[in-house]
Amino acid sequence: MKIVLASHNQKKIAELRTLLGEYIPDVEVLSLADAGVEGEIVEDGDTFEANALIKARAAAASGYIGVGDDSGLCVEALDGAPGVYSARYAGEQGDDEANLDLVLENMKGKSDRRAAFVCCIACAFPDGSDPIVCHGRVDGELLEAREGKGGFGYDPIFYYPPFGTTFGVASAEQKNTVSHRARALAAFAKALGERLTQEK
Ligand code: IMP
Repeated sequence: MKIVLASHNQKKIAELRTLLGEYIPDVEVLSLADAGVEGEIVEDGDTFEANALIKARAAAASGYIGVGDDSGLCVEALDGAPGVYSARYAGEQGDDEANLDLVLENMKGKSDRRAAFVCCIACAFPDGSDPIVCHGRVDGELLEAREGKGGFGYDPIFYYPPFGTTFGVASAEQKNTVSHRARALAAFAKALGERLTQEK
């Protein structure tokens, strides 16, 4: 069984392969390039779900099952921002340091520090059957300054109470036991495994 993940990120591809392998033993996860899908995918949805579906459908154009994911940080006191704009909150796509600094700036003086990382994983089928959409989230609080240098994105200011520290201090293994991505992926792997079993 071949599945195409709408990503060029080899770490994400390996992660999906491992998790799906627990539910679908003969799974082969391909990148867009491996599957011969060319061109840029325009992620212009207003929600994580819309963007994950845009990517999943683009990947399913390969003729194989397509998977797309979208994630970000949602801050209560900022009405859910940076949300779907997490990767380009400060303007430039992927400038993690500037994005984090802007969140700190916008959070100055705010006492409600609640925030969550959220992730949506969607799966589209080439025959047009109903897509699968799964969500994962992890709740924490934003610090007023960075703590730790690990992880990426907003990890150094995301304090996770059960760990007593930020995702920037926690190890990748520790983060993977609770992260929004791991939770969405686990739900997705299970749902896809069930769908494929029903079809047999
Ligand atoms: P993506 O959809 O997984 O590419 O994530 C979009 C953006 O959300 C990233 O560029 C980060 O700014 C932020 N983000 C998503 N997941 C995490 C995380 O686990 N830690 C820190 N930042 C994250």
